[in-house]
Amino acid sequence: MNPIETRLMDLTGRVALVTGGASGIGRATAHALAAQGARVIVADINETGGWETADAIGTAGGFVHLDVTDEAAWCRALDYVISTEGRLDILANVAGIGLGGDFEDLALADWNRLIAVNATGPFLGCKHAIRAMAGSGRPGAIVNVGSIAATHAAPDLAGYCASKGALRMLSKSVALYCAHKGYPIRCNAIHPTYVDSEMLDPIAALYGSREAMVQAMAKLVPVGRLAKPADIAAAVVFLACDAAGMVTGTELFVDGGQTAGIAPSHFG
Ligand SMILES: NC(=O)c1ccc[n+]([C@@H]2O[C@H](COP(=O)([O-])OP(=O)(O)OC[C@H]3O[C@@H](n4cnc5c(N)ncnc54)[C@H](O)[C@@H]3O)[C@@H](O)[C@H]2O)c1
Repeated sequence: MNPIETRLMDLTGRVALVTGGASGIGRATAHALAAQGARVIVADINETGGWETADAIGTAGGFVHLDVTDEAAWCRALDYVISTEGRLDILANVAGIGLGGDFEDLALADWNRLIAVNATGPFLGCKHAIRAMAGSGRPGAIVNVGSIAATHAAPDLAGYCASKGALRMLSKSVALYCAHKGYPIRCNAIHPTYVDSEMLDPIAALYGSREAMVQAMAKLVPVGRLAKPADIAAAVVFLACDAAGMVTGTELFVDGGQTAGIAPSHFG
């Protein structure tokens, strides 16, 4: 990255909270925000992984236990951030779960869990982060990690698609709410394709090996590969920084072209 780009994405002095920071995209996001100068509080139900990420970041990192489905826990986590860091500038809602299978066998408990973690969690995060950010008068940014499943349905992922569709419209509504209120807080969503993270471990088992899964999935992505967690983290950094100051209520597909068009061959 050249010096001009580095300045554009500078986050020195900003305080960020990253949910799901113990693993995959959240961990990469925590590192990427810290690399741009932010102080980063990792939030997760996985304490061991969360502390590992925070420790790897070093003095700019911290950890707070947070179950994103629990409103009281959000209040405690944000109280902790404000009391230790003095403010919150960036919220990255990355925590999420994936469950799939035959729609007729989708258990109500699994549906409820998908909605709770993937939609209610970000809702609670947005609600309480806005309260924490609005009073500061400083620019705030919320970045919600959705999925291409937010806009493209799959027969074996109905609950996941529904939860990400909800997240998509939540993000747009929050953006308009903040603008309407005159809060200098932006809210956007990122929709990744398949990302080679721990979330795909159970799917790899179904393919027999990770290599077989990666090979099969890569064929579905026009650029011919899965995304890396760092690919998604870079997009979070962009939407969180002042270079994206006019960007709110929108969505960024980080999908190697997967949702851009239709099948490549129509002439045999
Ligand atoms: N991996 C993919 O292929 C892919 C594709 C598109 C979108 N996404 C989305 O990206 C986000 C991150 O996925 P990932 O690939 O890094 O998955 P991951 O499984 O590697 O990480 C998810 C993290 O969320 C945490 N988490 C789960 N439930 C939580 C809860 N109730 N409270 C707090 N933390 C909780 C987990 O402990 C874990 O650290 C998710 O929202 C996912 O839906 C992933």
